Amino acid sequence: PSVVVIHGPNLDLLGRREPEIYGRTSLQEINAQLARFAEDCGVALSFFQSNAEHELIARVHEAGHEAADWIIINPAGLTHTSVVLRDALAAAGVPFIEVHLSNPERRESFRHHSYLADLAEGRISGFGADSYLLALQAVINRFDLKT
Ligand code: DQA
Repeated sequence: PSVVVIHGPNLDLLGRREPEIYGRTSLQEINAQLARFAEDCGVALSFFQSNAEHELIARVHEAGHEAADWIIINPAGLTHTSVVLRDALAAAGVPFIEVHLSNPERRESFRHHSYLADLAEGRISGFGADSYLLALQAVINRFDLKT
């Protein structure tokens, strides 16, 4: 099984960026935690971060071409703005989980709408770095169902 983990704009700054909202764990640490978990479960993970919308879209297309089993994506600010990222996920046809470190529903009203939410298999938000681990746990449980 293969899972693509995609991090959107500004998440390269995790650990230093508004730590009271996003926590002190760096993106490298989050990826390392996910990689350890995945390895223990025999799942192949690949990681991608970009600050550029078109690069994120290209990675989503690629996930479709390589017939990845799942995408775990934190679209960051693009959650609330991006019709094109939504269209890319719809086109790729790979089931995905929308992840957020913070709980956008508790924050400014412009964060309450997600362009991806109704396409997602599910959403996990509000648990900091654990949001990603919970998403991976859900994906792994779904592989178990299939086998
Ligand atoms: C975020 C929430 C978004 O509203 C924000 O723009 C981000 C990060 C989160 O992980 O909590 O950049 O996706």
